[in-house]
Amino acid sequence: MAYFEIEGGVSLKGDVEISGAKNATFPILSAALLAEGETRIKRVPKVLDVIHFIDILKELGVEIRENGNEIIMNVGNNIDSVVKHKKERNLRGTQTLLGALIAKNGEAVLPSLGGCEIGARPIDLHLKGLKELGVNIDWQGGYLKANAKKLRGNSIYLDFPSVGATENLIIAAVKAEGTTILENVAREPEIGNLIDFLNKAGANIYIERPGVIRIKGVKELHPIEFSIIPDRIEAATYLIIGAITRGDILIKDVRPTDFEPVIMKLEEMGAKMQVTENKVHLLADGRLKCTNIKTLPFPGFPTDVQPQLMALLSVSKGTSVITETIFENRFKAAKELRKMGADIKIEYDTAIINGVEQLEGAEVVAPDLRGGAALVTAALAAKGKSRILDAYHIDRGYEEIEKKITKLGGHIVRKK
Ligand code: EPZ
Repeated sequence: MAYFEIEGGVSLKGDVEISGAKNATFPILSAALLAEGETRIKRVPKVLDVIHFIDILKELGVEIRENGNEIIMNVGNNIDSVVKHKKERNLRGTQTLLGALIAKNGEAVLPSLGGCEIGARPIDLHLKGLKELGVNIDWQGGYLKANAKKLRGNSIYLDFPSVGATENLIIAAVKAEGTTILENVAREPEIGNLIDFLNKAGANIYIERPGVIRIKGVKELHPIEFSIIPDRIEAATYLIIGAITRGDILIKDVRPTDFEPVIMKLEEMGAKMQVTENKVHLLADGRLKCTNIKTLPFPGFPTDVQPQLMALLSVSKGTSVITETIFENRFKAAKELRKMGADIKIEYDTAIINGVEQLEGAEVVAPDLRGGAALVTAALAAKGKSRILDAYHIDRGYEEIEKKITKLGGHIVRKK
């Protein structure tokens, strides 16, 4: 299994090129199934989960050509409805194929998505909403079987602003008969990117007010050219890497309003932040101060940046408190950070972090995608050498991470 070897203690300086958003890519590639013909999508991040997703689309019968970070999808009317499970493939991002295949074929068969390292990841909210659109759901032998003679618009209230459920219901409703009103939906920027994609392709989606979406069913969608938005979580991760290594980082071609809570928190902690319409510059010339965060649905502090911030708080001055309200098992990085000398106590959904002067390099194991990013962040600031095992977790969501960190002056090597 590949691992990263990192020699810490260098202040990272320079520009970072941010890839397209992994979490916008899945719903948009799924939605592209609804438009027959050739759809071209730019800024597709070639991270492990997206590579697996593209494999699945090919297996479903989509002709795909790849040209760097652009993919050209040729969708016909003979797309299969059955998503096959392969043990080496991570299915996390495939949940939006459910809504897309039902909308395209009137049926969908997916392996039960089950839990992952950060929690149970149920899809009850997805299924409740799809049933209200006229979908029949059945579970057989570890597979979810869904079908709908006709999708009918309806008014649906989401008990929780689930990102995936919002995406599935939007995709399922765009060609439904009549109008659908979705209430208490997620407001993450990736949802906006999906809506822009669908409206450009001929859908009729209108955000009535934050959290409420009206979708008027249309007959057909047409293929388009489109670009994925920059990955706000990757951008936030590199800012935190700059902060923990007391560096000087410029990220360009991003949308700062997509990760405002992270920028505000870093400023509150003492980093010098300069923000323009599409750039963020961070300068951290000393040890930062502690702070408290509570993860919330957008526009609150993003749960996907919580582990990375925990690493930074581990070496900030004072005591910090993190409250994780989104996932039930998202503090797994704490155990590994303790091996590097961090002082972190976990009490149910709360982490209490007493900042130490410096972490020591150690051999640690990436527990999940963002926990792995937290360990890279900590290792770059720690004294001496670290090894981060199970690097594949990190590859699921960070494109060319060792190339980007090396370009900033960091000492990171991938080893088999
Ligand atoms: C998306 O996951 C992202 N993944 C996650 O990013 C992100 O952390 C999450 O949204 C929250 O922002 C993708 O977009 C592929 P949710 P999703 O449905 O859609 C519970 C990363 O690191 N829930 O908003 O699965 C659920 O268990 C990944 O890039 C239900 O109970 O998130 C969780 O506790 C990790 N029933 C909470 O809601 C449901 O039907 C948030 O889930 C659906 C969700």
